[in-house]
This record gives sequence, structure tokens and C-alpha cells, in this order.
Amino acid sequence: MKILILGGGVFLGAAVLDSALDRGHELTVFNRGRARSGWPTGVEAITGDRATDLGLLAGRKFDAVVDTCGYAPADVRKSTQALRDSAIYCFISSISAYKSFTHAPVRETDRLADYETIDPSDRDLAHYGPQKAACEAEVRVVFGERGLVVRPGLIVGPGDRSGRFSHWPWRALEGGEMLVPDLGDDEPLQFIDVRDLGAWIVRLLERGERGAFNATGPANGPPCSWADLVAACQDEAAKRAAPELQPTPVAESFLLDQGVEPWSELPLWLPSEDAENHAHSRVEIQRAERTRLTTRPLGQTVAAVMDEGVPAADDARRGGKLTRAREAELLALWRAVAPDAPA
Ligand SMILES: NC(=O)c1ccc[n+]([C@@H]2O[C@H](COP(=O)([O-])OP(=O)(O)OC[C@H]3O[C@@H](n4cnc5c(N)ncnc54)[C@H](OP(=O)(O)O)[C@@H]3O)[C@@H](O)[C@H]2O)c1
Repeated sequence: MKILILGGGVFLGAAVLDSALDRGHELTVFNRGRARSGWPTGVEAITGDRATDLGLLAGRKFDAVVDTCGYAPADVRKSTQALRDSAIYCFISSISAYKSFTHAPVRETDRLADYETIDPSDRDLAHYGPQKAACEAEVRVVFGERGLVVRPGLIVGPGDRSGRFSHWPWRALEGGEMLVPDLGDDEPLQFIDVRDLGAWIVRLLERGERGAFNATGPANGPPCSWADLVAACQDEAAKRAAPELQPTPVAESFLLDQGVEPWSELPLWLPSEDAENHAHSRVEIQRAERTRLTTRPLGQTVAAVMDEGVPAADDARRGGKLTRAREAELLALWRAVAPDAPA
């Protein structure tokens, strides 16, 4: 297939590029040339800004377009119009496009966020969910039934610039007593390795799939719990002869009382009692599974993140997250209120 990626230089776009090349497809990337400049042999790179330079694609049509960097509805309007003669337009949206997470499971047919008040040029990610919903609407206007929309949950693995999932493998490598939110064994965690997502997106294109798909993991297997994540981090750290790790579960109510910020400060933690969060990790992926989404064992994702090396404390990927000093302070306070907690 002749495939165009809008983006393609980093993380998900790069994973789609790698998978598509492995499968023998012919690739064009369109981006500003900031995130990456060197491309594999045979890849056509067009340098331009999607907001202003889509004329560079005039007269071109592709078997599939993968739009990994659509945030402002006005940009997606321009790109869908410019590429309207292409056979498939695959827009990378997000589960954040859904209106509500108070009920589970979250299905593709659920209502999307209201976006009527979103300024088409709005790139402020404070409005991320409604923006993605508005971008999806732009895809529908031009591509209708031919449109393909992928709504990923948290994307993790090598190359992740957010450090949200990576926080845990990196922290495990440092050893010592590690604070873990105590959500019990039943609370699921969902995320998807960027390499699995990239490979599956290429499969969707090859199969000529249309419509909307949730995309997260684990696929075709039992749910993942916090205990599974901690165990995988502990196992992989042990293989690397890292200092011994002692995970200490700490009650969620205590963390909230101490003002620990869910998700941002303590990555991946969404308080289990919060009804607004309930369905965030209960996203249904049966449609994706039926189209051969597969996800690798968790240990492989953890290992790949560890292989990137632990970034320095002032690295942007660690910014805003629990520091070792704050963790030690919280653990000491926790031990005072929960004397049975392991020392
Ligand atoms: N991370 C998550 O957990 C998560 C979860 C759900 C959904 N998603 C979605 O998944 C996608 C992630 O995509 P990604 O990892 O490939 O990263 P991305 O940051 O969305 O895209 C970056 C790529 O797009 C290019 N780009 C950015 N602005 C551009 C512009 N104005 N014109 C042309 N090219 C531009 C960049 O290259 P240049 O800078 O060189 O132009 C780079 O190649 C996003 O759509 C995101 O909303 C992410």
C-alpha cells in the first residue's frame, strides 16, 4: 500500500512507520522536520506544517493516510479535504473523546464529548477530549463511512515522552522501599505498548477496516492489575541486578489526604472510589480483538522501558512526578498511621 503518515517522527507515528516498512509498504511522511530528520531508505519525507503547507500534497492520493498528530479541528478539516481522494483516512483519536467515564465498559458506540463550543483552531490541550471528538467529526464530514478512527487508551513503552508508565519501571530500578497505591487486586489497569498499537493499525489498513475502534490492552487475556505491574517491574529489575525493591501498598484515602495528585504526581493512579474515573480502565476492546489486536507480555514492555535507562531527576519525563524525597516523607507518615505496614 502507499501510506502517508501525518507526523511519523516520534512514538506512535514512528511505530506505525516501522511496522508499515516491515510489512513492505511504501511510505510517505509529512511533518515539519523538527522531531526527526533522518528517515529509512525509501521513505519519502515531505517537510511542512499541516496548518499551512498542505498544498505540498496537492494532487496526491494514497491507499491510506494515518493522521497521528491531529489536535485542532481546523487542521483536520484541511487535511481531510486535501486528502479526500485517498482510500482510507485513519485518524488517531483517544478514549478521552468520550463524554463520560461513569459507566463501564466504555464502548465505541458511547456518546462523545460535546465539542460545539470548541474553537476549530484551539490547540490548548486543556480541551483535549472535546478537540479529539471535534476532529473525528471533521473526518466523518469528508470520509463518512470510509473513515477509520482509532481511540487509544494510555500508550506506553519505548519512546514515550510523558514518562507516565515509565515512572514505574524506572523507579523499580532504583530499588529501596517503593510507594504503591493500594487498589486491591480487582482494580484493572489498561494501557497499550506503542509497538503493538502501531502494528495493529497497519493491520487495520491492510484489512480495509472502517469505523471506530477502542485500542488498549491487554488483548485476549486476563486484566492487568497494579500487582501485575509491580511484579513485572520487580522481576525485570531483579534480572538487571538492581538494588532490592520493597513495594509498600499505601491506602488511597491516605494519599488523597496528603494531597498526592492522582495521575500526574503518582502516575497511572486514578482513585478507585472516584465515580468519574471508574471506566477509564474498563474500556471494551472486543472490536479491536476481532481485528487481530494482540498485546505482548507486560514484562517485555517493562524491559524495553528499563533499557532506555533511568533519566536524570531533572529530565522532562520525570517532571511533576513523585520525587524520592516526597515518597520517603509519605512512607514515614504512612508508617505512623499504619504501624502494621512493613518497615
Ligand atoms: N500518548 C498517549 O498515551 C495517547 C493516548 C491516546 C491517544 N493518543 C494520541 O496518539 C497520537 C500520538 O501520536 P505521536 O506519538 O506520533 O505523537 P504526536 O506528538 O501527536 O505527533 C508528533 C509528530 O507529528 C509531527 N507534527 C506535529 N505538529 C505538526 C504540524 N503542525 N505539522 C506537521 N507535522 C506535525 C511531529 O513532527 P515535527 O515536530 O517534526 O513536525 C511528529 O512527527 C496523538 O494523536 C495522541 O493524541 C496518545
